[in-house]
Amino acid sequence: MTDHLVLFMPSGKRGRFPTDTPVLDAARQLGVHVESVCGGRGICGRCQVDVQEGVFAKHGITSSNAHISPFGGNEVRYAEKRDLKEGRRLSCSAKILGDLVIDIPQDAVVNAQVVRKDSDGRVIERNPAIQLCYVELEEPDMHKPLGDLDRLLLEIEADWGYKSLQVDTYLLGQVQKILRTGDWKVTAVIHEPFQGEPATLVALYPGLKNEAYGIACDIGSTTIAMHLSSLLSGRTLASSGTSNPQIRFGEDLMSRVSYVMMNPDGREAMTKAVREALNGLIDKVCQQGEIERTDILDAVFVGNPIMHHLFLGIDPTELGGAPFALAVSGAVNIKSSEIDLPLNPGARIYMIPCIAGHVGADAAAATLTEGPHRQDEMMLLVDVGTNAEIVLGNATRTVAASSPTGPAFEGAEISCGQRAAPGAIERIRIDPVTFEPRYRVIGIEPWSDEPGFEEQAQKVGVNGVCGSGIIEIIAEMYLAGIITEDGVINGDLAAQSPRIINTGRTFSYLLKDGEPRLMVSQTDVRAIQLAKAALYAGVKLLMDKQGIDHVDRIGLAGAFGSFIDPKYALVLGLVPDCDLAHVKAVGNAAGTGARMALLNRDHRREIELTVKRIEKIETALESKFQEHFVNAMAFPNKADPFPRLAEVVTLPPRSMDTDKADGIEPGAARRRGGRRNRS
Ligand code: FES
Repeated sequence: MTDHLVLFMPSGKRGRFPTDTPVLDAARQLGVHVESVCGGRGICGRCQVDVQEGVFAKHGITSSNAHISPFGGNEVRYAEKRDLKEGRRLSCSAKILGDLVIDIPQDAVVNAQVVRKDSDGRVIERNPAIQLCYVELEEPDMHKPLGDLDRLLLEIEADWGYKSLQVDTYLLGQVQKILRTGDWKVTAVIHEPFQGEPATLVALYPGLKNEAYGIACDIGSTTIAMHLSSLLSGRTLASSGTSNPQIRFGEDLMSRVSYVMMNPDGREAMTKAVREALNGLIDKVCQQGEIERTDILDAVFVGNPIMHHLFLGIDPTELGGAPFALAVSGAVNIKSSEIDLPLNPGARIYMIPCIAGHVGADAAAATLTEGPHRQDEMMLLVDVGTNAEIVLGNATRTVAASSPTGPAFEGAEISCGQRAAPGAIERIRIDPVTFEPRYRVIGIEPWSDEPGFEEQAQKVGVNGVCGSGIIEIIAEMYLAGIITEDGVINGDLAAQSPRIINTGRTFSYLLKDGEPRLMVSQTDVRAIQLAKAALYAGVKLLMDKQGIDHVDRIGLAGAFGSFIDPKYALVLGLVPDCDLAHVKAVGNAAGTGARMALLNRDHRREIELTVKRIEKIETALESKFQEHFVNAMAFPNKADPFPRLAEVVTLPPRSMDTDKADGIEPGAARRRGGRRNRS
């Protein structure tokens, strides 16, 4: 019998198969995940594929619809009852007759659903930990005394190959009723963490159940973001977010740990608060997606170590000081019913592993998304918060650390700082001749020097400067020559411009007069210098470990990273010199990583193995931290050149006076390195 070459896209897996092999069998043999709920009975429609027509010279394949069996019995019946898109085939029915390129569509929607565009448009190949298995049983027989559940398990083994299935206890009392309601036709929900590992029957539905859902959630210390996805099609049905109610116990993470230490019920109160918020979000996404909570069978959560512990009900006190011991660093697999998160009674929860006591599951999830460990180029991934999480690596070696940047980047410690909200200045340009600023405010479309601004400013207000605005204003002040590379506001300019104001021993820059009056003081500049120096010193230590003097790519993650203009991040010397085209905001990379782990269990295995290989560096213990920190106090840096940045931005000439990092308190670096702030 002739063998035919079949290539599956998008995985690129290929193999040779004899004539008349069902396409679904070929996919299975190659390990290509094609959904199938009905086990090839032609009733679920989950196994849809597209045949690509044409000559694929690169693969040596001429693919044609003539190379697959004609549209036949099961497909005709299915197409009559349901909507089978033009050209789509049921892979359980269609057989291989010649060479083929088969596309596994990522949008095989079989039920009418409210479908929301994926949060980041990323196509995630599916291989979920939850599998729906439709089976048909014979009715009980007095001469065969096997129990109903035992007969069900035998049928599942015969049709689906699951041996020695565990069964969730709650099902024991329900199985007989469900079998009879379904007239001996049922859909079993199997949870198999990884292929070949012990699997469990976690839910059972009468008849054909043709949809299952999961949630992916990033628990940030400030905001919580959740996505609801179909586990069978991979589509995101709904996304929602809310602020973390734990904020009322403390703005930053250290203050939340302190709250736990000082209040006997502190841990319980914060665990309860975050779970309540999550329950509210689950209701919201279910409402948007028009599904029931009990339709949710799997969930993935990520968060920094303290969020991770509080969500699981673990006291985070140990994370408040060296050696920052995690109660559990590996992946956590539990039932949702164990942590007061009512979903389907059999729903499972998976938590991505933490990298270290101060580099959490959120950084691990961001690593999974951006994949420094999958590429040859050296990639730096930074999540800028009050405690920056830093991952640097490539396929050969990956290292990680955190750096105590403090809350300055979020607007705290800065006299005119505020959270990103309507009325906050987010973009700023300063004329290098007149020193006059123009700015853009959240909630107001025109720039401050454009028509219509004043009118809208009356309504929205201009109240302060948010994190990205603070980065820009300090960088623009440096580029305009208002501050020196050592961060000193040049008082000599007061004679030239009323914007430079003498405020006693130092000078300030007047950004906006009137009510409120917004100024950038010398103390503000110092706070940013300390924060950015801490971040850069952490990055530099990781570069030392890797033995490199530059990075190929930089990903700025997290809410703050998403809004920073990469150019200004470089001008400030927040991150090392890099080709500007290769410095990118990577959005909520942690949330995307959670979605990847939800929809594909191979990604769970991937990140578990990767986290084990990541070398963790404790910045506070490294002797060179102080030296890197002092150099990084300057703009962009006292010791390190920024030639790639200089190609696109005219940087002020560098001072030759290397001793003039004035204003740095001798112990500042040590204190930064030894103190752990968290966000
Ligand atoms: S596997 Fe159900 S229709 Fe093909």
